[in-house]
Amino acid sequence: MDRFVLTIDGPAGSGKSTIAKLLSRREGFIHINSGMFYRAIAFIFGEDVSEEKLLNLKFSFDVKDGEMVLVYNGKLLNEKLQREEVGKIASKIAKKSFVRDFVNKLIRDTAKSGRFVIDGRDCGSVIFPDAQVKVFLDASLEERAKRRATQTNEDLDRIKEEIRKRDEQDKNRDIAPLIVPDGAEVIDTTDLSIEDVYKRIVQLLEGFKE
Ligand code: DC
Repeated sequence: MDRFVLTIDGPAGSGKSTIAKLLSRREGFIHINSGMFYRAIAFIFGEDVSEEKLLNLKFSFDVKDGEMVLVYNGKLLNEKLQREEVGKIASKIAKKSFVRDFVNKLIRDTAKSGRFVIDGRDCGSVIFPDAQVKVFLDASLEERAKRRATQTNEDLDRIKEEIRKRDEQDKNRDIAPLIVPDGAEVIDTTDLSIEDVYKRIVQLLEGFKE
């Protein structure tokens, strides 16, 4: 079977995963959430991750109702991974090349044939530079912090500050920094509804001729 890849990159809270889940449910894409792998590694090992620990790490993932679910030691990790403090550690360990190599291999090995929507920071720039459709979502810091705070019930001002630091870290790292990938369609979601963003992406997909 052929492979079709749609990548959605962008900063924290820009709406990547929400849209990817919708595309998965409505358009039959398999959703791979790359940030969730960084979050899982951060949750399991904290900042103290090593190549050896990763080699022995066994987690499994699946897509259920448009959502990627991650299981470790027989337990579903999803909810535990959402908090901003996990995101903060994820952003720190994501600077290490062996961690990135591990995650990228896992994703490339999974997305061999079929229709995939893959969201993260470097999906269209590094993991799949040859993706058929690339999208870059953005939104104001204020709006992104509001979305995250609503999702996780955390304090808005604290989240805003943490997201600001995380943006800085993700954009300025040496390896695979957050950038607008070549050929990506940039969508500012600050004043758009989820349905608006969804429609824009579906238009891009319709316009795509293999
Ligand atoms: O998308 P997210 O907020 O769940 O990602 C958490 C962190 O993981 C993010 O701040 C940086 C890292 N990450 C990355 O470096 N590359 C990706 N493709 C996805 C996430």
